[in-house]
Amino acid sequence: MSRIPRFLEHLKTGFTAEAVSAARYRAYAVKAEQDRQPNLARRWRSLAEAKDALAIEMLQAAEQVRGLHADLGNALSEERYENDILYPKMIRDTGGASGNEHTANVFLRVVAAQKEHLRQLESLREETNAAEGDVALPAGVDRGSAASAPES
Ligand SMILES: [Fe+2]
Repeated sequence: MSRIPRFLEHLKTGFTAEAVSAARYRAYAVKAEQDRQPNLARRWRSLAEAKDALAIEMLQAAEQVRGLHADLGNALSEERYENDILYPKMIRDTGGASGNEHTANVFLRVVAAQKEHLRQLESLREETNAAEGDVALPAGVDRGSAASAPES
């Protein structure tokens, strides 16, 4: 197996570090909300967004963001790997008599959610094979603040 160049490895490590920080800060924001500290929650979320931006910058610098088909292909193979190999292995490892039932259940819920994500990615790929230009935005997908999102 050929090793990836050192600078790409570092960009990947930086991407993962900042992406993890962003997710962690969002978890802290949820906790702050539960503790009725909405301003603290906003501060965590705002920091999380800044971390996302750094993560994005490093993934782009690593040339890992290449557009439609390459990105979908990557997302699909990541989800398949996690669903078919990563989580099942961890579930086997944490379940059972000597294991941690609670953790095993967390992983089971994650896999169930991931299967739905995989289904969405697959239908996205079918749509993009058929569509010219942008894909449609089904009901239930947050329109967000994307400048190009049409009013409907
Ligand atoms: Fe995933």
